[in-house]
Order: sequence, then structure tokens, then C-alpha cells
Amino acid sequence: MEQTYIMIKPDGVQRGLVGEIIGRFEKRGYQLVALKLTTPSREHLEKHYADLAGKGFFKGLINYMASGPVVAMVWEGKDAVKTGRTILGATNPLASAPGTIRGDYAIDVGRNVCHGSDAVESAQKEIALWFPEGVQQYSKGINSWIYE
Ligand code: PPS
Repeated sequence: MEQTYIMIKPDGVQRGLVGEIIGRFEKRGYQLVALKLTTPSREHLEKHYADLAGKGFFKGLINYMASGPVVAMVWEGKDAVKTGRTILGATNPLASAPGTIRGDYAIDVGRNVCHGSDAVESAQKEIALWFPEGVQQYSKGINSWIYE
């Protein structure tokens, strides 16, 4: 089963959207295999967003992400990376469809509530960065009411 890294950003935590976001993944049928509330250091965030170091918004992004606790999570299930991104909605909330998290709860790209890995390879890197201790190894087993 595929795993993806999903993070509720500081604005999502401060706005009380943690339960709502977790609920959407749970209700869809995905399995939570790791979760922590943590205030990341700037160094940690610079590693997470290393690919964006040359962008004009990089400093603002790091300031925003370091401004308070985030909820770091790993969700597991079929096609978790791609479907996780669909559940979050387009990166820029102005383009996010209603019914997605960003489409329902965000306006500005610089306050877009949540992060989701964009590929299986980046999910593996992000999970290793945020959960160096490893993720919980357990399985509820294949739920035949969710998977055929
Ligand atoms: S890019 O320029 O196409 O590489 O960027 P994009 O893939 O759209 O977004 C990558 C992450 O950068 C965040 N982002 C921003 N943050 C703050 N301000 C501005 N203007 C901005 N533009 C993009 C965006 O939310 C993505 O963050 P994550 O956490 O990966 O969703």
C-alpha cells in the first residue's frame, strides 16, 4: 500500500481545522499510520522545501511555516499520493475546486492550510525527514468494504 506525507500547516492548526482535515482522509478510507504535532525549526523546513530555495516566496514560506505548530502525518492506502493531492485541492486556493480542503477553507497560496507530497519518491523523502524514528507498522487488514 502506498504512503503519502500530509501536513496541516500553522494556519490550519490555528484555525481549528485539524479534526476536519483528518476526518476527510479517514472518511475517504485512508489509514493514519503516523501523526505528530511539532513546531519545525527553520533548518528542518529549509530541508523540506529545498527544491524551492531559489523562489522569490521562499523566505515568506519558511517564515509562515515556522510560525507555529504543524500536524505531520503519514496516510496509507491505494494511490495515496495522487488522491491525497486531490483531497487537498490545487496548490493555489483560487484554483481549488469546492469540496476540496483548500477549495473550502483557503484563499491565499501563502496560507493554503495543508501540504501533500507530489510524487511517491518525494513522499518517501518527506516521511523519512519528518519521521526519522519510522512510522507505525500495523495494519487493520484490507477492508473489503473499501477495497474490492
Ligand atoms: S512552484 O513555483 O510551481 O514550484 O511552486 P508550487 O509547486 O506552486 O508550490 C510549491 C510550494 O510553495 C508554496 N507556495 C507559496 N508559499 C508562499 N507564498 C507563495 N507565493 C507561494 N507560492 C507557492 C506552495 O504552497 C507549495 O507548498 P506546499 O507545502 O508544497 O503545498
